[in-house]
Amino acid sequence: MAGITIDRCLCRGLAFADLLPTARAEGWDLDDMVRETGAGGRCGLCRPYLRRMLITGETVFHTIITGEAG
Ligand code: FES
Repeated sequence: MAGITIDRCLCRGLAFADLLPTARAEGWDLDDMVRETGAGGRCGLCRPYLRRMLITGETVFHTIITGEAG
């Protein structure tokens, strides 16, 4: 698993680091982010990362995170 870097919603081409400041400023939860930006709204594979980003503020991940489709 070495070398994995996940830092964006690939479907929408949106970097987590670009999404986080707005999400914080607007108080978005995951549903808000999907609605407002489209991130997480297609394949959904980035959703667990978006969810964790909103909790921890991390924007770059080096491990696979799975979870409920959310
Ligand atoms: S990678 Fe974000 S919806 Fe597909």
